[in-house]
Amino acid sequence: MSPGGAPFGVYVHIPFCRHRCDYCAFATWDDRLDLLGSYVEGLRREIESAIELPAVTSVFFGGGTPSLLTPAQVASVLVELPLAGGAEVSLEANPETVDGAQLAGYRSAGVTRISLGAQSLVDHVLVALDRTHDGPTVVRAAREVAAGGFDSWNLDLIYGTVGETLDDWRRTVAGAVELGAPHVSAYGLTVEAGTPLATDPSRFPDDDDQADKYLLAEEALGTVGLVSYEVSNWARPGHECRHNLLYWSQGDYRGFGCAAHSHQDGRRWWNVRTPERYLALVAAGEATEAAGERLDEAGRRLEGLQLRLRTRQGVPASALDAGGLDGLVEAQDDHLVLTVGGRLLANEVALRLRASPSQPEVARRT
Ligand SMILES: C[S@@+](CC[C@H](N)C(=O)[O-])C[C@H]1O[C@@H](n2cnc3c(N)ncnc32)[C@H](O)[C@@H]1O
Ligand code: SF4
Repeated sequence: MSPGGAPFGVYVHIPFCRHRCDYCAFATWDDRLDLLGSYVEGLRREIESAIELPAVTSVFFGGGTPSLLTPAQVASVLVELPLAGGAEVSLEANPETVDGAQLAGYRSAGVTRISLGAQSLVDHVLVALDRTHDGPTVVRAAREVAAGGFDSWNLDLIYGTVGETLDDWRRTVAGAVELGAPHVSAYGLTVEAGTPLATDPSRFPDDDDQADKYLLAEEALGTVGLVSYEVSNWARPGHECRHNLLYWSQGDYRGFGCAAHSHQDGRRWWNVRTPERYLALVAAGEATEAAGERLDEAGRRLEGLQLRLRTRQGVPASALDAGGLDGLVEAQDDHLVLTVGGRLLANEVALRLRASPSQPEVARRT
């Protein structure tokens, strides 16, 4: 924990995948898995050289595909961290990469929460998404995760893939409910610049279709007690992801690995993007930071409001010009919180927040 007992997070980036999905813009590579072993050693060295980490209340192994790591490799990273008692340790897993024995190994290594990248349970949707797993593989992996003794687990879903009918999406959400997922993240498919998907307009999602699918998810998940606690996240009470809550409350965290972002004491920075560059810097004992910025007070305040607006907590009523936003926000005590309709238009509502824009400073190396 930080001085004063505030939560402190650690993000560990794993930039490797067996196959690069053509909608994905994350920093990940499918042609250099041979670097995995030296990369884990690099992570250990980067963490070792980090000065005075506070007690860590949450860890998130994100990717890429962190489930390409063996349990021993995960343990070898965790042992370098000053974990607080009861820390949440999440790991993103691709369904086709895990089995019961591996999950048991992660549990023994200290992982408390698995986030399974299901995306859909419908085979033709997974094919259209350029994924390599199928629906039955998601079901098998989710059952193994559920039986694996973790404190909590999540299913990541994507809606709005071309060719996905409302009924396909209904089957996916019903499947998530049937599997008993205590946490579901559902993202509208986003066309990211520079991806193969971005070059093919015939596969772009439709706004109205995505809105219908969002409402379907809210209805189906809400009915079984999964509460929307952020625009794209639903959880049974007590199963919220503490690491994400830290991000949304502008808490402090350190990122390790290439392309990882950090935020501490009002400054944020990020590491060089490629694993090769990262490994060369770690080997030379040099800093892995690519660039950083410090937000001014107004920028920081605006960012905080934008993040909080997307959560169940909402923003202080005084921070939002609510004129003309009838039906999109509702008052809860002295706060304004997005309604379900408002969640569909969260970006537009955010334009009405009262604060001035951010002023990035310092740029060192790209
Ligand atoms: C970076 S991935 C890592 C997890 C894992 N490799 C996987 O894909 O199953 C984290 C999540 O981001 C979401 N995601 C990635 N790219 C997206 C996009 N273009 N649109 C919507 N969601 C996306 C997916 O739901 C995915 O599970
Ligand atoms: S979506 Fe996941 S599996 Fe696909 S390329 Fe991105 S990180 Fe890898």
